[in-house]
Amino acid sequence: MAQFMAFLLTILFICSFTSAMAAYNIADFGAKPDGRTDSAKPFLSAWAAACGSSQPSAIIVPAGRFLLSQALFQGPCKNSNIRIFISGTIVAPSGYGSNTVWISFNYVQGLSIFGGTLDGQGQSFWACKMAGRSCPNGATSLTIAESKNILISGLTLLNSEVFHISIFGSSGVTVRGAKITAPGDSPNTDGIHIQKSSFVTVSGSSIKTGDDCISMGEGATDVWIEKISCGPGHGISIGSLGDTPQEDGVQNVTVKSVVLAGTQNGLRIKTWGKPNTGFVKGIRFEHAIMQNVQNPIVIDQNYCPGNKNCPGQSSGIKISQVMYSDIHGSSATQAAVKFDCSSSNPCSGIGLQNINLSYLDKQAQSYCRNVQGSTSGFVIPPSCL
Ligand SMILES: *[C@@H]1O[C@H](CO)[C@@H](O)[C@H](O)[C@H]1NC(C)=O
Ligand SMILES: *[C@@H]1O[C@H](CO)[C@@H](O)[C@H](O)[C@H]1NC(C)=O
Repeated sequence: MAQFMAFLLTILFICSFTSAMAAYNIADFGAKPDGRTDSAKPFLSAWAAACGSSQPSAIIVPAGRFLLSQALFQGPCKNSNIRIFISGTIVAPSGYGSNTVWISFNYVQGLSIFGGTLDGQGQSFWACKMAGRSCPNGATSLTIAESKNILISGLTLLNSEVFHISIFGSSGVTVRGAKITAPGDSPNTDGIHIQKSSFVTVSGSSIKTGDDCISMGEGATDVWIEKISCGPGHGISIGSLGDTPQEDGVQNVTVKSVVLAGTQNGLRIKTWGKPNTGFVKGIRFEHAIMQNVQNPIVIDQNYCPGNKNCPGQSSGIKISQVMYSDIHGSSATQAAVKFDCSSSNPCSGIGLQNINLSYLDKQAQSYCRNVQGSTSGFVIPPSCL
């Protein structure tokens, strides 16, 4: 009897699920899991159905390899609960074209993506760049733009031509359980880039790339980054900021419980050495483990590649209220802590608490320029604040 009741409940559950949620399988729209047939049309048809539905809807991507030339999924949609369940791998064409975007969601509110793999096949594009030839810009694998309430859960991204995920002009975006992998020498393959967006959470993710694991550009606010392993890569970075004259500030960013292994930088803030009205404030870096990181803690306000167009080499970006707490492990260079701030806008309110960074069997060092702040607890190497 109990078994029968359970059976009945299951049937009831499935019925209510399917009646409340329209499901669209890309295979029903003609997609072939052969890795060769372009499934752009089936993807866009399934999207048109899901987005045009007035009730919650689902898109199913079954197992197999689906070649996808490009898909620009456009909102606004008629419902605010679209779920995409991906079992298989979505593959970009090998070779490269002039697209700067591979898969994007624009003006969408209420979207969740579960599982799956996006393979950007960036190898031949990187080869072009590494050979110093003139190449197109390269395509970002997944772009979330002008959107709200987006969840990306358990997605694997491989070998994007450039950024793996770009979040732009959006709010309420959560990326959790992502696995991002590209070779350590692949150019500009940032893991996740966040710009002009607020209430963005990235958690429980592993990121191995040839550039920043996570980078935050102008207007990144209310960002929460937790439980990330990074490396190889260039670390977790705010910046580069201040290339264009009037930038939005970066504010209220928490980075906690992260492990950086063999990366170029650990926790970095980087700005161009030229005039600007932007700012960085209210930043918390806590509970970070550094394993052989070249620049574990670094603020660099003198970025100016080629020393062009940087009058006075002085950054207008004001950096304040940056707290570093419980950061320990090993530096791969002697300068484990480096604050190289702007002469016209010195950094202020920088805090160091319970820092322990070692350098081989020698004493690591701190470097300070144009910076004001305070320390508490133990600080190794000794602070120059
Ligand atoms: C800072 O951002 C977090 C989300 O990352 C948010 O929960 C919190 O309310 C924000 N704090 C302020 C003062 O806005
Ligand atoms: C700093 O770390 C070293 C190991 O790298 C350890 O021996 C030492 O006790 C630590 N110091 C503090 C104050 O935690």
